Amino acid sequence: MLEINKIYNMDCMEGIKLLEDKSIDLVIIDPPYKLTLSNRIYTKIFNKYANDLLNLKDGFDLRILDVLIPKMKKINIYIYCSKRQVKELLEYFMSKDCNYEILTWHKMNPSPLINNNYLPDTEYVVFAREKGVRLNGNYHTKRKYYISGTNQTDKKKYKHPTIKPLAFIENHIINSSNEGDLILDCFAGSGTTLVGAINQNRNFIGFEINKEYYEIAQTRINEAINSKRQASADEKTRNKL
Ligand SMILES: C[S@@+](CC[C@H](N)C(=O)[O-])C[C@H]1O[C@@H](n2cnc3c(N)ncnc32)[C@H](O)[C@@H]1O
Repeated sequence: MLEINKIYNMDCMEGIKLLEDKSIDLVIIDPPYKLTLSNRIYTKIFNKYANDLLNLKDGFDLRILDVLIPKMKKINIYIYCSKRQVKELLEYFMSKDCNYEILTWHKMNPSPLINNNYLPDTEYVVFAREKGVRLNGNYHTKRKYYISGTNQTDKKKYKHPTIKPLAFIENHIINSSNEGDLILDCFAGSGTTLVGAINQNRNFIGFEINKEYYEIAQTRINEAINSKRQASADEKTRNKL
């Protein structure tokens, strides 16, 4: 059995087995993407992150979902993915009679892609939920799209090549869980989902296989907990004045 509100430096295929059945309220994952770009174009677009990205790509296998689903109270999951993965993910969840949405993250300043392609300015998130799972949130958190820059500041700050926007992930959390719920991210990277869970008063469990990224995520988690404590201390002081 695993303690909650922790990230574990381990392969999620091992970690998921240690989770109690029907214990997770919401899963948010951003597994390594399936990409088709050649190494040469890849290096051109992502320059200094190219090697890291090449190590990350192609690691996701749909069979992970078969292992994950029994751990969820009900299917309630966001999966960041490439365009190529959307079809297989939708087919998978349709076969489970789920409702679904395709959400998008649009980047305003993508690298200019040469040749015969549209710009690489969109990332996809497949959201699937079993019938009966509620969607909370409001007019703003329920937009299907999120627009931002390419996250260069966060990439530099947290040294992860595929860090996702915290605000977008917090919207998923607000929309698809309640305070005190347990959220799982088994490809935690720099810990964005876990920080979002802390900010939104949810519990979390994370897995990250890479030691360096695990340590970055651990630092972010500690920072998020400390700033939450500070905010609540400040609030108490204000109320006393
Ligand atoms: C796309 S990144 C996640 C980035 C994250 N969403 C963020 O905002 O920082 C995917 C992460 O999954 C990790 N990973 C890959 N295979 C894994 C496995 N079998 N178990 C746990 N983590 C894994 C990689 O090391 C990488 O950091």
